[in-house]
Amino acid sequence: MSASPASAVSVSIDLGERSYPILIGTQLLDAPSTWADLPKASSAVIVTNNTVGPLYVARLQAALAGQYPHIHTVVLPDGESHKDWSTLNQIFDLLLAQGCDRKTVLFALGGGVVGDMTGFAAACYMRGVPFVQVPTTLLAQVDSSVGGKTAINHPLGKNMIGAFYQPQRVVCDLDTLQTLPAREMSAGLAEIIKYGPIADMAFLDWIDAHLDALMARDPQALAHAVQRSCEIKAWVVGQDERESGLRAILNFGHTFGHAIEAGLGFGVWLHGEAVGCGMVMAAHLSHRLGLVDAAFVSRFTALLARAGLPTVGPQLGTDVYLHHMRVDKKAEAGDIRFVLIHQPGSAVVRGAPDALVVEVITACCQG
Ligand code: NAD
Ligand code: GLY
Repeated sequence: MSASPASAVSVSIDLGERSYPILIGTQLLDAPSTWADLPKASSAVIVTNNTVGPLYVARLQAALAGQYPHIHTVVLPDGESHKDWSTLNQIFDLLLAQGCDRKTVLFALGGGVVGDMTGFAAACYMRGVPFVQVPTTLLAQVDSSVGGKTAINHPLGKNMIGAFYQPQRVVCDLDTLQTLPAREMSAGLAEIIKYGPIADMAFLDWIDAHLDALMARDPQALAHAVQRSCEIKAWVVGQDERESGLRAILNFGHTFGHAIEAGLGFGVWLHGEAVGCGMVMAAHLSHRLGLVDAAFVSRFTALLARAGLPTVGPQLGTDVYLHHMRVDKKAEAGDIRFVLIHQPGSAVVRGAPDALVVEVITACCQG
């Protein structure tokens, strides 16, 4: 950790020649120093959407003006339903129409949808151009902008077409969170809370004590939460960039959560909401396997509820849950693999008897 020129905290993600800093602070967007020492190019392209663009794109354009002779902007339609080939093509259309060369730097200004699509476009355009993540949702600042997973959705599966492709830098300007809807803040809190039981129970204690400040968007509380989350994610990704093992622990709550999202239809619950409830279900399963005690499950569930997240799953029917969990990316030959709490502060990826899984679904869901 060190101080950057713009007085941000910098967390580094160590991946050899693909290493990069995550800058975290306030007033970063406008400060030219935030954007210093990025790859030189004649063109920069800002990719954003029709919600975030009107709020922040002019400021980013102004900050980059001294560095890039030509700055172009692509404004995509907002929403997970647009995370697809035809929207991705809008980025390629602009890049080609403007004659952008292989040094062009892409800037992803928005939440995880814009970040995942811009990263994938950067991975593909001319077989790879540099890109910078400028996440503006809490979820994107603590999770999706870090670690190089990029993707679009396919009608038959979420995030199924993509690449591992690391950004040059991640810039988390905490001021942008002030305009985020409350429901999106709660969704981001789910991904922050996730880091406690899988890696750092002291952090979970800190979140418990500072949840009101986080929900009130206190800059100091947000700075610590984003920094600690990024440190944990950087530690995991630094050891297992391509998810051959350890990185799977970052999917705590995602197996049940994915079934909720897919079973209800994507977009009915936000991703973070489904993950929050999925973590409750995974904690119950950990308890039924004798890994954690009931007091841990109660305390964890109460914290998620205080964060404004649903803790009772929708009544989709056991078969629907099992069906969607069997097509999860972690499943092996149809056997469901869960991220479970081995003991508070440490996670394990393993299977569980169907009978126990059914017990959890029955106990944690209602109509
Ligand atoms: P999102 O990108 O859809 O953003 C949520 C909403 O907030 C959108 O309507 C957006 O326009 C709006 N918004 C963004 N910033 C705002 C701001 N500052 N003020 C006001 N409104 C703002 O959703 P998300 O939760 O950021 O990201 C979810 C996506 O991230 C999913 O597609 C998921 O698959 C992906 N994801 C990727 C990874 C990864 O490792 N790459 C990890 C987790 C999630
Ligand atoms: N969000 C999970 C990961 O980046 O691996």
